[in-house]
Amino acid sequence: KYDGLALTPPMGWNSWNKFACNVDEKLIRETADAMVSSGMREAGYVYINIDDCWHGDRDSLGFIHPDPKRFPSGMKALADYVHSKGLKLGIYSDAGSMTCGGRPGSRGYEFQDAQTYAKWGIDYLKYDWCNTEGLSAEGAYKTMAAALKKAGRPVVFSICEWGTYKPWGWAQNVGHLWRTTGDIYNCFDCVKDHGTWKSWGVMQILDMQEGLRKYAGPGHWNDPDMMEIGNGMTAGEDRAHFSMWSMLAAPLIAGNDLRNMSQQTRDILTNKEVIAVNQDKLGIQGFKHTSKDSVETWLKPLKNGQWAITFLNRSKSPKKVELKWKDTIITDDLSKRELNPEKQRYQVRDLWQKKNVGTTKKDFISTVPGHDVVMLLLSPSK
Ligand code: GLA
Repeated sequence: KYDGLALTPPMGWNSWNKFACNVDEKLIRETADAMVSSGMREAGYVYINIDDCWHGDRDSLGFIHPDPKRFPSGMKALADYVHSKGLKLGIYSDAGSMTCGGRPGSRGYEFQDAQTYAKWGIDYLKYDWCNTEGLSAEGAYKTMAAALKKAGRPVVFSICEWGTYKPWGWAQNVGHLWRTTGDIYNCFDCVKDHGTWKSWGVMQILDMQEGLRKYAGPGHWNDPDMMEIGNGMTAGEDRAHFSMWSMLAAPLIAGNDLRNMSQQTRDILTNKEVIAVNQDKLGIQGFKHTSKDSVETWLKPLKNGQWAITFLNRSKSPKKVELKWKDTIITDDLSKRELNPEKQRYQVRDLWQKKNVGTTKKDFISTVPGHDVVMLLLSPSK
């Protein structure tokens, strides 16, 4: 969406993955505090997003109010608090009559709700797709986009209809990001079957991004869902998850309890060199270059002729990787960027070990632990 917002993938936190309907103003305030004290704000995270279940009722004039028990101080006071920390506040609604959690939806109240959010000082809206009988997705999201525009406050608009109506085809000027899949959950390589719907592990979500890279760019991003880092996977799995979301130029929305995270989780979420790959100004989504014996090699063109390379080991056992630079001469069809270590020598830096590991004069050999990655940054040397 070309209004100058989300020119790089949005970074922040959302309550749903860890807390589901268990949200209140105390959690939001404490999360804002933790965002600052953990160094996450400094690393670039900005949005504190309240997901489903903050709602109370509509009043007799149709205005929506937060649940008075959970948000006794009201949303304006909460937004003021979050803003005072140098952060921004996000909220959640639904295009249908009710949210997925059964709270009041925005159907028929789009303009009124957008005005209310603007009055409160809301900076980000995630807009879901439950209970939408008879609505066209494109129409419903365009209505809310128009309502937000009319309300006059800059708001990042997050389209959450799970890829059902291929939003990448119509949403580039409607929202700043669109979900490409159903819900993620905290498992690396699994599917949870709920009968009528499924939730997906990190690898399943990754595979569902196939073919979508051409739709992403500054102001309009594919959204493979919020992160599960710090929610129970191993450190290697969390590292792989964070690296792949960075390679995909995906929104980096943390989904864990920021108030109680381990040093390991914090180190993953605040790895600035990996974040720089995600936040690269060109905004080009990475792509799978090769896949062999459970190891995928992903590439992402970056500004200043740099490239990110990630070796993703999808198996549970360690795998040796060997990258012969002369076999790594490619021109990316989409961006026309060329990687040619025969013509240009690159310095090679390991972004998780945080150290330089030589140049492309020598082939790269390493071992990737099971369910983990090795992530490299290639910088042209003079
Ligand atoms: C849907 C969304 C989730 C979350 C829940 C809330 O499932 O995809 O991300 O917002 O609704 O009920």
